Amino acid sequence: MQNKKRESLDGKNIVLGVCSSIAVYKAAELASALSRLGAGVSVVMTENAKKLVSPRIFQTLSRNKVHSSMWDEITDWKPEHISLAESADLLLVAPATANAIGNFAQGLAPDLLASLYLAATCPVLIAPAMNSAMYANPSVKRNIETLLRDGVKFVGPEEGSLACGTSGRGRLAEIGAIIDAAADILESSEN
Ligand SMILES: Cc1cc2nc3c(=O)[nH]c(=O)nc-3n(C[C@H](O)[C@H](O)[C@H](O)COP(=O)(O)O)c2cc1C
Repeated sequence: MQNKKRESLDGKNIVLGVCSSIAVYKAAELASALSRLGAGVSVVMTENAKKLVSPRIFQTLSRNKVHSSMWDEITDWKPEHISLAESADLLLVAPATANAIGNFAQGLAPDLLASLYLAATCPVLIAPAMNSAMYANPSVKRNIETLLRDGVKFVGPEEGSLACGTSGRGRLAEIGAIIDAAADILESSEN
């Protein structure tokens, strides 16, 4: 049943926002899986995410250029945050940091990913990942509630042991669960 649903990813353009969470390495598997399911994947990495892993991983696995800055050499007249937003059937942010979630909720646009979020008219799916105390922080909770009210969908985070040595809610959702959530959204937006 889920595999049938995953067919809705075929031929869709997914903009995958990748933030500087310790779970960033898992996003490489996500990019690869989405691409193997037939989706076009355009990865947008925050500048901080590039300090944790190389964009080259995402470039190879997504089979596409990785975007990061709005201030790169000009190759097209249209600013990148607008052209990416217009091309997207789904904006998926995984892993999403507390910082990115805060930017989205507050309408701030300090970087390519946050600017793209504001310009996007497609559905948005966020997979947060952070330390459990960060996730439980009232400011983060408020931002997530704001985004939920705005119609943004969330998958996870899950409970479990965390890279920071503690355990609690904050683990990135399993890659399969993220893919299924993305497929659900794309399937319902087809109907
Ligand atoms: C090794 C390391 C791991 C981090 N993991 C997380 C995380 O899982 N979640 C989170 O919200 N922030 C995490 N941070 C903090 C963010 O990187 C920091 O808030 C940063 O400003 C977010 O930038 P970005 O949203 O532009 O990627 C981590 C920082 C470091 C150095």
